[in-house]
Amino acid sequence: MSGLPARVRVVEVGPRDGLQNEKAAVSVAQRIALCDALSDARLPAIEAGSFVSPKWVPQMAGTAEVLGGIRRSAGTRYPVLVPNMAGFEAASAAGAEEVAVFAAASEAFSQKNINCSIAQSLERFAPVLEAARLHGVQVRGYVSCVLGCPYQGEVAPEQVAVVAAELLAMGCYEISLGDTIGRGTPGRTRQLWEVVGQRVPRERLAGHFHDTYGQALANVYASLLEGICVFDSSVAGLGGCPYAQGATGNLATEDLLYLLQGLGIDTGVSLERVAQAGAWISSVLGRQNGSKVGQALASAPGALQAPSADGLGQ
Ligand code: HMG
Ligand code: MG
Repeated sequence: MSGLPARVRVVEVGPRDGLQNEKAAVSVAQRIALCDALSDARLPAIEAGSFVSPKWVPQMAGTAEVLGGIRRSAGTRYPVLVPNMAGFEAASAAGAEEVAVFAAASEAFSQKNINCSIAQSLERFAPVLEAARLHGVQVRGYVSCVLGCPYQGEVAPEQVAVVAAELLAMGCYEISLGDTIGRGTPGRTRQLWEVVGQRVPRERLAGHFHDTYGQALANVYASLLEGICVFDSSVAGLGGCPYAQGATGNLATEDLLYLLQGLGIDTGVSLERVAQAGAWISSVLGRQNGSKVGQALASAPGALQAPSADGLGQ
């Protein structure tokens, strides 16, 4: 099959997007251990936490201690989310070398999530981008609700394109498009990349799929066919979004890696080690492992090997 990329970059968001929505308390030491286990799996990027109001998202309090405690691996970046200058200053003081700002394609979600309009959020990000440039800090941009909003329903791909293009113009090196409530299907996903791809080069775009409706892997495959080469995922399928009722976790990293390995697409990441980290954090949280591949590997430990490429890649 032609048209699939040879290599994909996986951005692990479990320690942030995952844990921000878990009800069980996770200590700073456990968050550090999770990041270290994931960097042992050679993930190139691990979102370590966020510098947001602890009244809004108490699970992410202590992110400075997490950043200070992790064993930084040379091959791994550790971005953190910041919604404003207060967040950027705290992140910078904690030694963050990369941050992510997060906007939405839906006005209603923007208000619920960060208490301001889309335009106001972009105004708040402008000084963050400027300060980041001065400090040599990389900035990634997110757009939420790209395939639907829990409050306003349909979201036009053209609206996503406007916000994504704005973030790119402000200096974000990459824009991750979030299907926050996991409502997207492959046809709509392809249409989204076609529309946004007219405003933002595809090599600057990433896919961030939640698996609420079980469509995340299919949406990744549709995205691969559209030339998207960066995907966000969460170990053991942890998480959801505190401002999107019913949104389940992100696509599980184990499931993403299994798909990519089967397609012969290189990630440089150890599926076996991610699966071990997923089994461990699931036991810490006292919850079922949200990764199908993680469950399968745990029930048949002999299968803890990379799936062989099924010949469909390249
Ligand atoms: P606000 O109340 O409008 O802000 O909240 P404010 O400036 O009026 O400040 C209110 C209080 O928050 C003050 O404290 C500030 O100091 C404090 P008080 O005087 O009441 O004690 N504050 C902060 N504290 C720590 N860090 C900061 C900070 N800024 C202000 N950076 C704000 C606005 C953005 C702060 C708030 O709405 C917030 O923190 N929201 C959390 C949003 C969030 O983390 N959402 C989840 C992540 S987004 C996501 O999951 C989607 C994504 O995964 C992609 C996808 O799936 O689509 C990325
Ligand atoms: Mg998310």
